[in-house]
Amino acid sequence: MNPPSIFRRRRVLLLSAAAAGAVLAASVAVASTAEAASTLGASAAQSGRYFGAAIAAGKLGDANYTGILTREFNAVTPENEMKWDATEPSQGRFTYTNGDRILNQGLSNGSKVRGHALLWHNQEPSWAQSLSGSALRNAAINHVTQVATHYKGKIYAWDVVNEAFADGGGGGRRDSNLQRTGNDWIEAAFRAAHTADPNAKLCYNDYNTDGVNAKSTGIYNMVRDFKSRGVPIDCVGFQSHLGTGIPGDYQANLQRFADLGVDVQITELDVAQGGNQASVYGSVTRACMAVARCTGITVWGIRDSDSWRTGENPLLFDNSGNKKAAYTSVLNALNAGGPTVPPTSGPTSPPTSPPTSGPTTPPSAGACSASVTLNSWNGGYTATVKVTAGSAAVNGWAVTVNLPSGGAVTNAWNATSSGTSGTVTFANVSYNGQIPAGGSTEFGFQGTGSGPSATPTCRAS
Ligand code: XIL
Repeated sequence: MNPPSIFRRRRVLLLSAAAAGAVLAASVAVASTAEAASTLGASAAQSGRYFGAAIAAGKLGDANYTGILTREFNAVTPENEMKWDATEPSQGRFTYTNGDRILNQGLSNGSKVRGHALLWHNQEPSWAQSLSGSALRNAAINHVTQVATHYKGKIYAWDVVNEAFADGGGGGRRDSNLQRTGNDWIEAAFRAAHTADPNAKLCYNDYNTDGVNAKSTGIYNMVRDFKSRGVPIDCVGFQSHLGTGIPGDYQANLQRFADLGVDVQITELDVAQGGNQASVYGSVTRACMAVARCTGITVWGIRDSDSWRTGENPLLFDNSGNKKAAYTSVLNALNAGGPTVPPTSGPTSPPTSPPTSGPTTPPSAGACSASVTLNSWNGGYTATVKVTAGSAAVNGWAVTVNLPSGGAVTNAWNATSSGTSGTVTFANVSYNGQIPAGGSTEFGFQGTGSGPSATPTCRAS
């Protein structure tokens, strides 16, 4: 393995300090800030990683809490505020007030924001709990589309689906009303999220996946399948709600997922207080630091008194906000360095499925063409439509699709629609009407029934 860059940097700095006695003090000062950052976020950032905390909107008025938050962390996750019951308390009525408070807290502090979680069988609103079949599938995909669109461009990574695998030996899916809509519900959710926010990293997140076991292997097989079929998945979250120890193959398990071509993240770390707490925290941190594609760690709360694990004191700060031994253990492991996270430029996902229909002749001057990609399930679909300008720029466009009878458009994004069934025309919105010669833009819509089967027509103005 190459020596971590942080070690190489230290050698250079110490040599230069030794060679020039007059600048010794200054060089050492530089060395110590570069190598032993004094906060979790800054020390993680030295290797391109983040260190985050789950936070609650209701606590942002607590100065002790926000003081630690803004000092120590460079990523945040809403503990509850972006879950389905919080963002869509009744069907079709979306509430983002508290989610936005977390988002703005994070962005104003220069932090990454992890979105948590678009679909989960827990904290599913009661109206959705009473749905099944295509009504539930449509509602779920609409939820993903709406929430990911609201936060488009702002979220570093979304937990698109949370905890969909069963505990125990089978390595299969957990039973839930979402699972009963069909085994493809997870990939449908990832495709809808990718359409809504192409730049967010899209994660699958689960617990009891801390070593190579039947559950983590079931997830591993799903991720491998998704990658082979072009389902847009970018990352896997390991919650890591831990007791007094971790499996010896914790790091190897992270590595085998990374080797599939996804990032891995520790997403909800907390460790029961006991003799081993500090050393378990250190081991988890070292494991992430040793895996180049382990991009960051999030602890599930700030002070012990903020934890959902009441009485277990599983966090890095005590009830008064003092640093615990576990804090020092994490900070030291971060400062010890590790392979730097490889840079990514934009989304790492391959394109989703090939277009089901597309233009057969290149568009002519002044004209435009359109092609549609469908993500279908039993009873519904989302359509992504690519509008391409010909050899002259387009200044406004309208795309017409023919829907099979019985189906209807339920919502559209990045375009306005006229009509909902039969022949439906979608026109540009203000920001995407102008397409340079040869350029393209995308809009989407969701519908019931099956999607359009013929190539749409495009009219340029
Ligand atoms: C927990 C929150 O911390 C609690 O406040 C809430 O009452 C229940 O959910 N796995 C997850 C998290 O993915 O969303 C859960 O958070 C903890 C387990």
